[in-house]
Amino acid sequence: MVNPKGSSQSKICYRPIRPSDLDVLEHIHGRLFPIRYESAFFQDVVNGRDIVSWGAVDLNRPNGQSDELIGFVTARIVLAKESEIVDLLGYDSAKSDQTLVYILTLGVVESYRSLGIASSLIREVIKYGSSIPTCRAVYLHVISFNISAINLYKKMSFKCVRRLQGFYFINGQHYDSFLFIHYVNGGRSPCSPLELLSAMISYMKSGFKAVAAKLCKNEVRKISRWGKCKENHSLVSTIPSKRNTAVECTGCECV
Ligand SMILES: CC(C)(COP(=O)(O)OP(=O)(O)OC[C@H]1O[C@@H](n2cnc3c(N)ncnc32)[C@H](O)[C@@H]1OP(=O)(O)O)[C@@H](O)C(=O)NCCC(=O)NCCS
Repeated sequence: MVNPKGSSQSKICYRPIRPSDLDVLEHIHGRLFPIRYESAFFQDVVNGRDIVSWGAVDLNRPNGQSDELIGFVTARIVLAKESEIVDLLGYDSAKSDQTLVYILTLGVVESYRSLGIASSLIREVIKYGSSIPTCRAVYLHVISFNISAINLYKKMSFKCVRRLQGFYFINGQHYDSFLFIHYVNGGRSPCSPLELLSAMISYMKSGFKAVAAKLCKNEVRKISRWGKCKENHSLVSTIPSKRNTAVECTGCECV
């Protein structure tokens, strides 16, 4: 990879991911994540089938690489009432056609890190969510020890609202995840007593559903050696960063 960190010659630009990005996109995912994504996922991304995406490229890269992805973010629109965070939204969200944007994957190749590229990609997603009148929030999961990503989301004003025990199962081990949320378009956490009560009820219901689903399906068997998470394609990276030494979420704000 050319053009190391901090290079003043980089000219980063952002654009939707397209079919010609397929190989590079697949390759970067393979390098950055311990989860092996199905090829259908990449096909959906590059063809924009139910997935929105942004890629980062460095226009100043030589040797015909100026249009090659060096970063990406992928996301999907979900119905608020069908999401696992319906209880974290204010009154109404369970009833109407309100939507959310769920970030699936985010990554920047190593030699282009700490240049603000991931921040810009996240900003694109927030801008996109804000442009959809029905959208109330952008949210995602992150594995509990991915300190760089956790710092990134906090910096981008996401709130850590939940810790999910054993959410990820990777190479035979369970890992917790944090759920981060960024409200848009007046979306907010429940605050009236009635809203809080209904939030608690729907949270408990979703807990019961998860237990029932586990009992029925014997989920663990289905988990591949690469690991999976309960929400398909959600964000995970177990590749430790140099600064990923401590694991804590002291700044987490719970709603
Ligand atoms: C996490 C990741 C996307 C960050 O990309 P990036 O382009 O380097 O991020 P940015 O330059 O926009 O950094 C923004 C903020 O994130 C945090 N951050 C980024 N890298 C960090 C690191 N190594 N250690 C601690 N904090 C870090 C900082 O708060 C930083 O703000 P600052 O520069 O003012 O300190 C990148 O490291 C990556 O691709 N990691 C592997 C894949 C991954 O973990 N994806 C996210 C899964 S949830």
